[in-house]
Amino acid sequence: RESRAMKFQRQHMDPDGPNNNSNYCNQMMRRRHMTEGWCKPVNTFVHEPLVDVQAVCLQGNITCKNGQPNCHKSNSSMNITDCHETSGSKYPNCDYQTSQKERHIIVACEGNPYVPVHFDASV
Ligand code: ATR
Repeated sequence: RESRAMKFQRQHMDPDGPNNNSNYCNQMMRRRHMTEGWCKPVNTFVHEPLVDVQAVCLQGNITCKNGQPNCHKSNSSMNITDCHETSGSKYPNCDYQTSQKERHIIVACEGNPYVPVHFDASV
């Protein structure tokens, strides 16, 4: 079974992207299996090396949106792509707006090793 750490990598890591293309989210949300059973409404991909994203778990500790204490904000801004489902999207034809940004990321971390398991926000 897929671990939470592997699920984070599947849903949020794309170190070699983005492919500079307005279809990025439509392609990646499908390729990473977030359009099976439903259209995941919002999702962020991070275009930085995995080690740099894992290192965020050692950076500034903050409270998560759900009130849990295990969130961490990156010291540096990172290249990300936000995917937002469009108003016209209808499962199984999931349709997304693609927006590239440079932001600090906030991730929740768990376990030993203490690694990212959830993408909370970008600021
Ligand atoms: P994401 O939130 O990254 O888009 P997800 O599929 O919702 O992706 O997975 C979040 C995972 O991180 C869940 O396994 C969640 O644990 P629960 O199933 O117990 O909710 C885990 N997680 C750990 N800490 C979290 C936190 N502070 N906020 C949200 N999810 C957290």
